Amino acid sequence: MGAERVQDIAKSSKETIPDAFIRLETEQPGITTVHGAVLEVPTIDYSDPDEEKVLSAIEDAARNWGMFQIVNHEIPSEAIAKLLAAGKGFFELSQEEKEVYAKPSDSKSMEGYGTALQKEVEGKKAWVDHLFHKIWPPSAINYRFWPENPAFYREANEEYAKHLHGVVDKLFKSLSLGLGLEGHELKEAAGGDNLEYLLKINYYPPCPRPDLALGVVAHTDMCTITILVPNDVQGLQASRDGRWYDVKYIPNALVIHIGDQIEILSNGKYKSVLHRTTVNKEKARMSWPVFLEPPSDFEVGPHPKLVNKENPPKFKTKKYSDYVYCKLNKIPQ
Ligand code: SIN
Ligand code: FE2
Repeated sequence: MGAERVQDIAKSSKETIPDAFIRLETEQPGITTVHGAVLEVPTIDYSDPDEEKVLSAIEDAARNWGMFQIVNHEIPSEAIAKLLAAGKGFFELSQEEKEVYAKPSDSKSMEGYGTALQKEVEGKKAWVDHLFHKIWPPSAINYRFWPENPAFYREANEEYAKHLHGVVDKLFKSLSLGLGLEGHELKEAAGGDNLEYLLKINYYPPCPRPDLALGVVAHTDMCTITILVPNDVQGLQASRDGRWYDVKYIPNALVIHIGDQIEILSNGKYKSVLHRTTVNKEKARMSWPVFLEPPSDFEVGPHPKLVNKENPPKFKTKKYSDYVYCKLNKIPQ
């Protein structure tokens, strides 16, 4: 058998949690969260017929927040409900059934079922298990990591991926125009039609000490843009002016994170957002981020049209896989 899963540890943790899950005081949510305040990150209404208004709202949110929520988008609520039910069904399978999809220890890809991704500060652990697999393009998909149970898992994920395309294109177009580029130029510089959609399902089991533990520790996303749907358990937090706030949960909204590659492509005009997650005492929290990633050997750097003598590049140009390697191993970029 492979690594110990947090889902199992949670079952035997009634009042306390193992030391390894007790975060440093500088990170503990009980101490570091601004209580009683919910952060209202910008909400963008995709059904608003005033396109200019939507565009400038996206641009403003990407420059000043790095995070926003989209409501009234074209993804049907049934498609989202089905995606969530499929993922929940997988995590409710027996441990043995889930281990069939475990990430092989010698694998270079992120895909598979697993626990703990980053090298942790002072050996501390995060209260979360996950499943990673790509959902687009079809040539990048490895069905080996797609659960066969529940039986509708594949259909739910394929349908969701198809519904995402419209949202992805509108986001890239708005962000591109917001930089003074042509509508198609930002997506092209991020991998174009070869852009990969990597799905992660986070499973945060109930935790007897949510004041001491963290789900996902503070980070910015490595990819270009993240499109995320959570279940209805509060847990996402964003850092604003150096303090941590709960982000308001809006049913059926898509949570958007600006990732590092967009910060780089925009030469710093757009900001990737620092965020983390807390866990819940009674309920399992789950979330489904889709990371829009350049192909691994695709080079990303500040867009050539945005740099000149007055505006020198603020970031190096490098292969996406090299960026990921440095970030995961905490090597300065
Ligand atoms: C993440 O940022 O990796 C997870 C966010 C969430 O669970 O809401
Ligand atoms: Fe994230």
